[in-house]
Amino acid sequence: MYQYNEQDQNLVNQRVEQYRDQTRRFLAGEIPDDEFRGLRLMNGLYIQRFAPMLRVAVPYGLMNSVQVRKLAHIARTYDKNYAHFTTRTNLQFNWPKLEEVPDILAELAEVQMHAIQTSGNCLRNTTTDHFAGILKDEVEDSRPWCEIIRQWTTLHPEFAYLPRKFKIAVTGSSEDRAASQVHDIGLHLVKNDAGEVGFEVLVGGGLGRTPMIGKVIHKFLPKHDLLTYLEAILRVYNLNGRRDNKYKARIKILVDALGIDKFRELVDAEWAEIRGGEMHLTDSEIERIKGFFAPHPYSTDAVNGVAALESKLAEDADFAAWYERNTREHKVDGYRAVIVSLKPYLKAPGDITDVQLDVVADLADKYNFGEIRSTHDQNLVLAHVQAGDLFALWQVMAEHNLARPNIGTLTDMIVCPGFDFCSLANAHTLNVADQINQKFDDLDYLHDIGDIKLNMSGCINACAHHHVAHIGILGVDRKGEDFYQITLGGSSREDASLGKVIGKAVPQADVADTIEKVLQVYVEQREEEERFIDTVRRIGLTPFKERVYAPVN
Ligand code: HEM
Ligand code: SF4
Repeated sequence: MYQYNEQDQNLVNQRVEQYRDQTRRFLAGEIPDDEFRGLRLMNGLYIQRFAPMLRVAVPYGLMNSVQVRKLAHIARTYDKNYAHFTTRTNLQFNWPKLEEVPDILAELAEVQMHAIQTSGNCLRNTTTDHFAGILKDEVEDSRPWCEIIRQWTTLHPEFAYLPRKFKIAVTGSSEDRAASQVHDIGLHLVKNDAGEVGFEVLVGGGLGRTPMIGKVIHKFLPKHDLLTYLEAILRVYNLNGRRDNKYKARIKILVDALGIDKFRELVDAEWAEIRGGEMHLTDSEIERIKGFFAPHPYSTDAVNGVAALESKLAEDADFAAWYERNTREHKVDGYRAVIVSLKPYLKAPGDITDVQLDVVADLADKYNFGEIRSTHDQNLVLAHVQAGDLFALWQVMAEHNLARPNIGTLTDMIVCPGFDFCSLANAHTLNVADQINQKFDDLDYLHDIGDIKLNMSGCINACAHHHVAHIGILGVDRKGEDFYQITLGGSSREDASLGKVIGKAVPQADVADTIEKVLQVYVEQREEEERFIDTVRRIGLTPFKERVYAPVN
């Protein structure tokens, strides 16, 4: 992974000291509240319902064991022994003390981490596929490109005060695990007819109040032009994006208002000025960055572990269920990628304790070249485990509640913290997640239902991406009571689509029952191996509506 050079380290260290002084002056009453607000947000610090919330950047979800141990230490020392992974692969601490945040940032800087640009109207953490670099079908590993973008975005002087926050996602395979079509910019590594690698560029996707799917602005951008083209898009947005109305400020609104062709014209005009200039990427620079992502020294003996693995799979049904659901193919024979489930029974999705963080770090050192990845759907990945080590790894993970075999199933939900922590929430989410877990705890049933994406947000900001879930749940407030609007048919994958609302919001007590009715319709109507989303697309919403809102006799 990328290692800070001296300049990077100095920048992060200086930022800590700057913020330490700002905090000191704020606490001494020398900086008023509203001025401090801007300063703290630039360092990832929100003020929430009960306490500040600190969002730590995890560039493209990649961490090493030293960093993860540090996160465990911070959770233990400065927080309530746990932290929370988000859909943007970052990590949030929910209970730091304002006066201790500079110390936390100093600790993070020791392991090359920070919270810069994790909030505010700036370029946010670039996200990618959590299986990048290990896939057989991949055009190219997307992570070096994320790193190139990261270096361009960090403290970019021109884009520190955009009309609104800005998010980029990059993917390198035909499957999209980074929700790239609902980002401000989505980049897909593709090959042209001549076999050259470049980018398909999408712009103007996003969720929140006005959800939209991104539109293709460039079918094949040569890779050397990546930064100049991104800069051109950002300039057009920075100059023309609305600043008078926060709800109309995202680039998606501008692209929609102008139309993609007019927007492209503006970008091309801007690009013509800078293309080939000092930000043109040279082969040597691209190779230098790729050098940080060189393949691990995989063992050529790893295939020898397959026989032992197979006998364990035959002997132990629990292990086999986990293997089936929570591991994936690796391009190197004898290796598997392991998904660490952060969706245990009756625990907040995405939460992880200090002890679990330490366990994951230890397992990564022992079995995974010390590498850990966080995923868009609030889990972790150990991407390179030898077949012969899987059983031992599973046993330790199971002991620590990290091996629930539910990846891709209904209980592998993305859920925002809702009313329990978030001051913007309209409704609770975590207790509804518990309700769903209680109703659908039968593994056989979950595995029979198969791949299904359920996401739940506590308000219209859509932190949990409910619009692009097969089943989306949005908490709404009706005269002080929590109600939930249900959408069906969304997808954040390569076949991205926005879900449609099936009818009036249901009361809290009825959410799990409503989902059960939806699933009954699916089970009755599905054809052979048909996935839930495909059944919804084939039969439309009417049969679901009829079942959910059927009059009760
Ligand atoms: C208590 C903590 C949180 C606060 C205050 C917060 C605040 C917000 C706000 C205000 C927005 C809307 C921004 C807009 O209008 O564009 C937003 C969007 C978003 N949040 Fe959060 N959030 C919190 C926690 C989370 C968590 C836990 C996750 C992950 C599960 C998350 C992931 C996201 C994502 C992905 C979006 C973007 C949706 C889009 O594409 O526009 N946030 N958040
Ligand atoms: S969706 Fe709303 S309630 Fe949930 S974390 Fe985001 S802002 Fe808060």
